[in-house]
Amino acid sequence: MWLCLCSLLSLSAGTFGHNPAIKAVLTDKGLQYGARVVMDWLQSRIEQMSVPDISGRISIGFLGSVHYTLSNINVVQVDLPVPIVAFSEGTGIKMAVSGFNIALHGNWHTSFHIIRDGGTFDLAVYNIDLSSLLRLRSDEQGHPSISTVQCDSNIGGTEMNFYGGASWIFKHFVSRFEGYINAQIKERICPMIEQNIESLESHLAAMKVSFQVTPNLLIEIPLLSPPLVQSTSTEMDFKGEFYSVKGHTEPPFAAGPFQLPGVEHCMVTLGVSEFCANSATFAYFSAGLLQKNITDSMIPKLSPIRLNTTSFGTFIPQLPKLFPNMLMLLQVFAANMPTVSFLPDSVTLGLFGSVKAYAIKPDSSLAPLFRLDMNASFSGRFFIVDKMLRGALALDNMTLALGSSEIGTFQTASLAVALQTAINMAVLPELNAKLKTGIPLPETKYVQWVNPVLKVNKGFVMLATDTKISPPGDQER
Ligand SMILES: *[C@@H]1O[C@H](CO)[C@@H](O)[C@H](O)[C@H]1NC(C)=O
Ligand SMILES: *[C@@H]1O[C@H](CO)[C@@H](O)[C@H](O)[C@H]1NC(C)=O
Ligand SMILES: *[C@@H]1O[C@H](CO)[C@@H](O)[C@H](O)[C@H]1NC(C)=O
Ligand SMILES: *[C@@H]1O[C@H](CO)[C@@H](O)[C@H](O)[C@H]1NC(C)=O
Repeated sequence: MWLCLCSLLSLSAGTFGHNPAIKAVLTDKGLQYGARVVMDWLQSRIEQMSVPDISGRISIGFLGSVHYTLSNINVVQVDLPVPIVAFSEGTGIKMAVSGFNIALHGNWHTSFHIIRDGGTFDLAVYNIDLSSLLRLRSDEQGHPSISTVQCDSNIGGTEMNFYGGASWIFKHFVSRFEGYINAQIKERICPMIEQNIESLESHLAAMKVSFQVTPNLLIEIPLLSPPLVQSTSTEMDFKGEFYSVKGHTEPPFAAGPFQLPGVEHCMVTLGVSEFCANSATFAYFSAGLLQKNITDSMIPKLSPIRLNTTSFGTFIPQLPKLFPNMLMLLQVFAANMPTVSFLPDSVTLGLFGSVKAYAIKPDSSLAPLFRLDMNASFSGRFFIVDKMLRGALALDNMTLALGSSEIGTFQTASLAVALQTAINMAVLPELNAKLKTGIPLPETKYVQWVNPVLKVNKGFVMLATDTKISPPGDQER
C-alpha cells in the first residue's frame, strides 16, 4: 500500500494533484490507421534500405572452409502485409506481421584458398513472421515513451540463386548457405525492430512538452500519467495549461476532473477542459495584457457618440460644464480574469472590466473624471464546418456601475443602454462576421484533420476526428 503510494507520488512528481486539462483518446480505428501509415512508411524505407554486406565462412567438410562475401545488396521487392495490431490492456500495443516477403539482389564473392570467384545472386526471403509487444509509458518529464517488451521472428524460407563465375560449384552447398543466411537474417530482425523502437524512443524523449502559441502565451502539455491502455482504446492525459511567457504564475483555481468518452467511429477524440481555456485568460490577465486605451480616433466614423466631453454631456450633464469641448481618453482594463464556461452546446464568456475616463486638457495633460465598473456575459455556439471553427456570440447580460467619480455622481442607466447598443451594433456584428467565415483549425504538415466534429459538453469541449498523417520524408520524395 505504502509502496504503491510512494511510486504514485514519484511518478507524478511536480504535477501531483493536477487533473489533466487535455485528454486524447486513440481508438482502435486510429490504431489500425496508424499501423497502416507506419507500414507504408516502412515499406518505402525498406525499399531504399542499404543492406550491409554479409560475410562469413562456410565449412565444406574436410576440405576446409570457403570465405564468402555478399555485397551491394539491394532490395528488389518488398511485400509487407497489413499487420495485425491491437491494444494490449495495461501494457501497450501488440503487433503481428505474417507472410512478409522480400527479394534482394547482390554480388557474391568467394575465396577458397587461392581460388577467388564471384558473380551475382538473387535472394528471396519469404514468409517472415514477426510479432512484438510494445510498452507505452511516460517518462518523468511527461514525454510518451515506447519500448519493446517482446519480439519474436520466424522465417518461412529463403531461396538463393547464384549466377556467374563458377557458381555451379556452389550449387551443391546452396542449401547449407541458405540455412546460414536464414539464421543470419532471423538473428537480425528483432534487434532491428528494437533498434528502430529505441530510435523512436529517443525522438520522443527529446520532444518538446511546452510550446509557445502566441507572442504572449505558451502551453505546457506533458503527460501527467502513463497512457491508459485499455482493450479498445488508449487514453492520454496531458497537463494542458497555458502560462504567460513572462512568468510561471499558477492560477488560483485548479483543474477539475472530466471523463472523455472515446468516439469509436473516429480515430482520435480530443477533450479540452474549461481549466485549459481559463488558464489562458488568467495568463493574459495576470501578465497585465488585458488593457487598452481608447481614443476618439478609434471610434467608428459613423458613431453618433464621440469620445469628447460635449458628446458625453448627454449622459453626464455636468461634464461639459466642468471640462468644455475636450477630447477624452478611456483606459479599459480587466478588473478580473475573463471566465470561460463550457455548458452543453454552449460556451459562456464572462468579462469583468473597468473603464477609467479622462479629459484631455488643452495642454495634453489628463484630468481624471470617473471610473465605471462593468460586467458582461456573452454566450456562444461553436461548431466546425470544413475544418473551420465557426460560431456566433451574443450578449446575454451587462451591468454597469459607477465605481468612483471626480466630477460628482451621475446616472449610468442611459450610458449602459448606449454601451449595450454599441456592443450589439458594432462590436458583435464584426466579431460574428469573422466567426461566420470561421477560423481554420491549426494543422501541421504532418497531421491533418479529417471530418472533425466539435461538441461542447459540461466542463469540456470535445473534438472527434479522423486524421491524415504524412510522415516526414514523404514530402521529400
Ligand atoms: C494608456 O494611457 C495612459 C496615460 O497616457 C498610459 O499611462 C498607459 O500606459 C496607457 N496604457 C496602454 C495599455 O497603452
Ligand atoms: C465632440 O463631438 C461632437 C459630436 O457629438 C462634435 O460635433 C464635436 O465637434 C466634437 N468635439 C471635439 C472637440 O472633437
Ligand atoms: C443579469 O444580471 C442581473 C444583475 O446581476 C441579474 O439579476 C440577472 O438575473 C441577469 N440576467 C441574466 C439573463 O443573466
Ligand atoms: C461584477 O462582478 C463582480 C464579481 O462577480 C462583483 O463583485 C461586482 O460587483 C460586479 N460589478 C458590477 C458592476 O456588476
